[in-house]
Amino acid sequence: MMMRTIVVVTTLVLGAGAGMAQQDAVKLAQDTMKANGKNMGAVLGPMFKGEKPYDQAAVDAALNQFVDTAKKLPTMFPDSVKDAKWEGDFSPSPKIWTDKAGYDAKVASFAKVVNEAKAKVKDLDTLKANFPGIGKECGACHETYRLKKG
Ligand code: HEC
Repeated sequence: MMMRTIVVVTTLVLGAGAGMAQQDAVKLAQDTMKANGKNMGAVLGPMFKGEKPYDQAAVDAALNQFVDTAKKLPTMFPDSVKDAKWEGDFSPSPKIWTDKAGYDAKVASFAKVVNEAKAKVKDLDTLKANFPGIGKECGACHETYRLKKG
């Protein structure tokens, strides 16, 4: 009887832990992607278009966020989030898990481009040369590995 109680309690605790881990992973992915979106759309984009003055510190912070994202992406969508509930308009495509090699190739390509940009972008001209390439990488992954609701 005692033994059975311990087993049940342990299962409940582990179950709750797994649920938390799943929610944490979903939140980490969404927060990271939202920060990427903000850096492209509200920081680098306006400088690229000449709507805001070039600001090296802001550029560095944005590019560091992309480099950090590239490090997180290989493990950002663990098996535990496959059946998670994704609030908002976007969710990961099941292809992330069924076509892991393809996904990993997109991550590697993104990592290469953002690391190069981090090394090269020192003024508006170099930002202009590198910004479109970064946007292409975001879009290339989303095209295949991100789903939009509705
Ligand atoms: C290797 C794949 C990959 C790359 C590279 C990538 N993303 Fe994503 N992105 C995803 C996936 C999968 C989702 C859907 C799940 C999620 O929201 O985390 C997503 C979601 C998003 C969202 C929606 C977030 C939300 O919850 O509303 C934004 C915004 C976004 N990405 C911006 C970017 C930007 C900007 C870049 C490039 C700087 C980028 N992403 C690069 C895979 C990628």
